[in-house]
Amino acid sequence: MDTLPAVRARGITKCFGEVVALDGVELEVAQGRIHGLAGPNGAGKTTLLGLLLGLALPDSGRLEILGAPVEKALAGPDGVAGFVDGPGLYPSLTARQNLAALAGLRGQDARTAGIDDVLDQVGLTDVADDRTRGFSLGMRQRLGLAAALLTRPRLLVLDEPANGLDPVGTRHVRRVLTRLAAEGTSVVLSTHRMDDLDALCSEVTILATGRVVFSGPLNELAAGNRELDHRLRTSDPETARKLAAEAPGIRVVEDTGVRHDPEVAVVRGSVPALDELVATVVRSGIAVRELTPVVPPLEAAFLALTEQQETGG
Ligand SMILES: Nc1ncnc2c1ncn2[C@@H]1O[C@H](COP(=O)(O)OP(=O)(O)OP(=O)(O)O)[C@@H](O)[C@H]1O
Ligand SMILES: [Mg+2]
Repeated sequence: MDTLPAVRARGITKCFGEVVALDGVELEVAQGRIHGLAGPNGAGKTTLLGLLLGLALPDSGRLEILGAPVEKALAGPDGVAGFVDGPGLYPSLTARQNLAALAGLRGQDARTAGIDDVLDQVGLTDVADDRTRGFSLGMRQRLGLAAALLTRPRLLVLDEPANGLDPVGTRHVRRVLTRLAAEGTSVVLSTHRMDDLDALCSEVTILATGRVVFSGPLNELAAGNRELDHRLRTSDPETARKLAAEAPGIRVVEDTGVRHDPEVAVVRGSVPALDELVATVVRSGIAVRELTPVVPPLEAAFLALTEQQETGG
């Protein structure tokens, strides 16, 4: 296997009139990786994925897909498949006929294209012969993925593939993507769901108003060294609160949760300061029943980076 990155973007800029959708974006995705793209609405995720699919060209910057520079739009770079803003389907055709039509467009023989196999992979076998007109959002998403799989891509580009999926669909899609990556296919996907990033991606790029505000391994993003609010549940909340108030590097903050729980104190501090507090509480003969971040670390990092943090607290 060659070692050229699946995606190499340097200083990519894309404007729509006055709107700067992408502003000097750098992105590198190695082969066999599942790279997550996150960011608030309007951050530029779909625009960037569209460039990877060859749906448009950047205004400036350099884009290489699977080792080849992208110089003209529309054709779509070889070996790339996927969709943005939902897959395009023929509503009057069944799922199977949609896939057969797509195979036909590419000059594949529908009988040997592996249609049954990809339908099975995304969990649509039972509705294979239903017209897609009646398909739900999640079913359409899954069929879009099946269509992309049919081309045996080396780079799969998916815009919010988890959107609208039920838990079974989510598992199908995660399983398919993980297996593809293990076989060497690179995947770039956008998502608003931190649990998807966590379950699927080893690396992530976070965009905010067209700029990369973070790019790197997911654990680096989650680690951070910010002080997070934690719920501390103990057998003696009153004393625990007192100990927390006296503990170095710890602040007791107001519990703004929906369900106020008298057993819980909300404490803010760095991980070492929290460790120290737990040790102190336990030494005082109080049982620690729970210590959990109020906002999961990934989400907290995302909010901090994209400056969407709620004020106060
Ligand atoms: N075809 C277009 N014409 C005009 N403006 C556009 C077009 N496509 C995108 N934009 C603008 O570019 C910016 C980035 O949009 P984009 O759709 O890439 O964001 P996104 O990160 O995918 O958002 P979301 O999370 O809502 O899907 C937005 O300000 C959007 O309004
Ligand atoms: Mg989008």
